[in-house]
Amino acid sequence: MKITDLIGYQVLDSRGKPTVAAAVTLEDGTTHTARVPSGASTGKHEALELRDGSSTHADKYFGGHSVNKAVENINTVISQHLIGEPIDLSLIDQKLEQLDPSANHGQLGANATLAVSLASAIAAAHAKGLSLARYFQPDGKLLLPMPMVNILSGGAHANRTLDFQDVLVVPCGANSFAEAISWVVAVRESAAKLGSQQGKVTNLVADEGGLGIAFPSIQEACNFVLSAIEEVGLSVGSQVSLALDVASTQFFKGERYQLNNPGREFTSDEFVHFILGLVTEFPIVSIEDPFAEDDWNAWQSFTGLAPSSLQILGDDLLTTNSARLDRSIATKAANAILIKANQNGLVTSTLEVLLRAHGAGFNTVVSARSGETEDSWLADLATGWRAGQIKVGSTHGAERNAKWNRLLELEKREDTEFARPFNGAG
Ligand code: PGA
Ligand code: ZN
Repeated sequence: MKITDLIGYQVLDSRGKPTVAAAVTLEDGTTHTARVPSGASTGKHEALELRDGSSTHADKYFGGHSVNKAVENINTVISQHLIGEPIDLSLIDQKLEQLDPSANHGQLGANATLAVSLASAIAAAHAKGLSLARYFQPDGKLLLPMPMVNILSGGAHANRTLDFQDVLVVPCGANSFAEAISWVVAVRESAAKLGSQQGKVTNLVADEGGLGIAFPSIQEACNFVLSAIEEVGLSVGSQVSLALDVASTQFFKGERYQLNNPGREFTSDEFVHFILGLVTEFPIVSIEDPFAEDDWNAWQSFTGLAPSSLQILGDDLLTTNSARLDRSIATKAANAILIKANQNGLVTSTLEVLLRAHGAGFNTVVSARSGETEDSWLADLATGWRAGQIKVGSTHGAERNAKWNRLLELEKREDTEFARPFNGAG
């Protein structure tokens, strides 16, 4: 089946910031759309998100964030090359790669290339009469991912109420995706209740739907979430464990890790030991970006010292980039990779990074961004790619729940099994 039309246009993400949408129309008259997400704590090695800057007239009310240039690239050069072509995802991604051979997709904009690539994947699944998850895995049981869910938000998502960006829970003892989500909803409600009993502000939610409560230290924040878990009668460790996204690049300044709460700064070596202390003191199964995006030595020494069961997850470090992944495999820095399609810029090459990680024995966590849309393709990618884990934010906000709800739907409508990557944790 051929592509008969392709358009790009500007829409809004969950922060009210412009982002790119693409719509692919096929010969059978159906149209398939995708919208791209956008980060706030972005890594400097990510693919380039093309924004207009404040000089253009069309941007007047968007503070430089409008995406007219990226949209224009879809409506001119990309559509000229794709209209009339068969709906074949790998061929389309190859063409996009040829049209913009730059490593970071900076000429067309990774927001333009990814919107087209995603809309094409959705259209290609339709052309085969398959769900997007099934398109990537036509046979056998699909693997529903273990969710990693934000309870407390800090960092760039909550005005640094906490230095660390996320305190998350992992319902590692749940037997189905539906059970996993019911547990984390209960824990989030319990945390909100506990917070208001303690006189904290709990009706304000952060960018990813987590509670933006201020704490004097990360230890107090972890203890608070543990109390919330216990309060609903779930057992810490065997049923629900903790995970952290430190997003430490955000507070690595002048070669020092600078915490506001408590006001204290650490050299890399000192911070390695601080993080080791945390993962020893608390039932933490996964720690993301404990060290800055280019502090490779700290990553390497921590990975050598940490318990082998700990998931050490590179987000800003690895930016869904195969060269950076290769370096981390070779140097034994981290043992898991966060997979964000817009850090990479194309669906096919994002999948290649994930498969390469699996080949090296790395865990993979497919992830949303803090600026999200109502799209649910992420749930299908995580499932069809057998990622094993997914991170979407909290359970508040329709842009978050679109992904959880799609996973609940897949569990009902497809032949699936539920991933248990931390089976027996605690
Ligand atoms: P971002 O945050 O989308 O703002 O980059 C998500 C994360 O750090 O995992
Ligand atoms: Zn992160």
